[in-house]
Amino acid sequence: MERVINPTHSLKGRLRVPGDKSVTHRGLMLGTLAQGESTLYYPLKAGDTLSTASVMRALGSEITEQGDHFHIKGVGLKLREPGDILDCGNAGTLIRLVSGLLSGQEMFTILTGDASLRRRPMARVTTPLRQMGARIEGRENSKLAPLAIRGGGLTGIHYEMPVASAQVKSAVLLAGLFADDDTEVVEPAPTRDHTERVFKHYGLPIEVEGSTIRTRRASAFAARDLTVPGDISSAAFFIVAALITPESEVTLEGVGLNPTRTGLLTVLKEMGADLSWEITEGQDGEPVGWIRARSSALKGVSVDPKLIPLMVDEVPILAAAAAWAEGETYIPNLEELRVKESDRVAAIAKNLQNLGVPVEVGHDWLRVIGGKVQGGGTVEPFHDHRIAMAFAVCGLQKGVTVQDAEWASISFPSFWEDLERLMGKD
Ligand code: S3P
Repeated sequence: MERVINPTHSLKGRLRVPGDKSVTHRGLMLGTLAQGESTLYYPLKAGDTLSTASVMRALGSEITEQGDHFHIKGVGLKLREPGDILDCGNAGTLIRLVSGLLSGQEMFTILTGDASLRRRPMARVTTPLRQMGARIEGRENSKLAPLAIRGGGLTGIHYEMPVASAQVKSAVLLAGLFADDDTEVVEPAPTRDHTERVFKHYGLPIEVEGSTIRTRRASAFAARDLTVPGDISSAAFFIVAALITPESEVTLEGVGLNPTRTGLLTVLKEMGADLSWEITEGQDGEPVGWIRARSSALKGVSVDPKLIPLMVDEVPILAAAAAWAEGETYIPNLEELRVKESDRVAAIAKNLQNLGVPVEVGHDWLRVIGGKVQGGGTVEPFHDHRIAMAFAVCGLQKGVTVQDAEWASISFPSFWEDLERLMGKD
């Protein structure tokens, strides 16, 4: 579905973005492993997390929609062997985290996903999970899905992660709940810590000492309700939209402000953004608050490589902001972006060019020359939700055509309607 966005002159209003994707995946998984019934409040109901709900149902939990919420009847620590392969759709977080979970289960499962997911690297999880004792086979020497897993009989490991990845950390920690001895993961750089916080919420073993995170075998634990904060990765599109559009002011409410997720806010401030935020409550272990963005004259910066793992999914929208900034923006440390839902380094460069923005691209860096966005360009999402939304925002002020706009529904089904509302069109 193609979507034409006519030139927009201002964006105004308040918005509550949908639930956090990372927390929703974890809430559905932990609610399934718990004993008894619980409610997951304000989860994200979108392509990726609906895939997780259906995989958890296949493993024995009863998940029903109750208005905005999910009601979960947990299975406990021993899941049910599914009668068929498990389809993880487009969701990297699902396939990697559930690989950890299934490595701890004495049963046979096969995980697959869509064409994009079947191209994404899985050795980063199969390697440590095999070291723990899981038997996992996959295409190309277990580097690619489909993955066949025969779990059980795990022993804890001390694992120094070669990549800064919250998905790898979480897969190993989930497996660690079923392993003899302690399981330790060492991060090369801090990554989002929702798994650690969710474990704490459910009373599961978790210790954090600097860059080392430790867990051990879990005993049966009781179900507990969990409230999901708004997703800062979704809020990011409207933050940048307000910054780059004249006469705009947008306030995002109920947004998760976990410090392992706020790298984009730090960079935008450095670029001169009129941006403020405040944590107003701690909600089931996650800091939550509001963010306000007003039209700003942005200037290009050289981004600190250490901030990239704290804003990993926001790089496309940062590149969109850079296209509107005065001068050059250099974004380094992008190796991991090559293996997301699309090759995001290439997808960003191509879409900037489509909108007339000069860009230089290296294997793991981008240099964006700001101030030259042209009207009438086309956004090509490359089957990637965040690319579709980021470059729709980039083209907003001058008008743009977005191909395959339905990809937004992977993480943000109401994106187009919410955008129109802030444009004053409903
Ligand atoms: C996620 C971790 C990140 C992120 C993804 C969600 C998570 O991936 O890009 O969208 O929920 O743990 P990596 O672990 O590959 O960096």
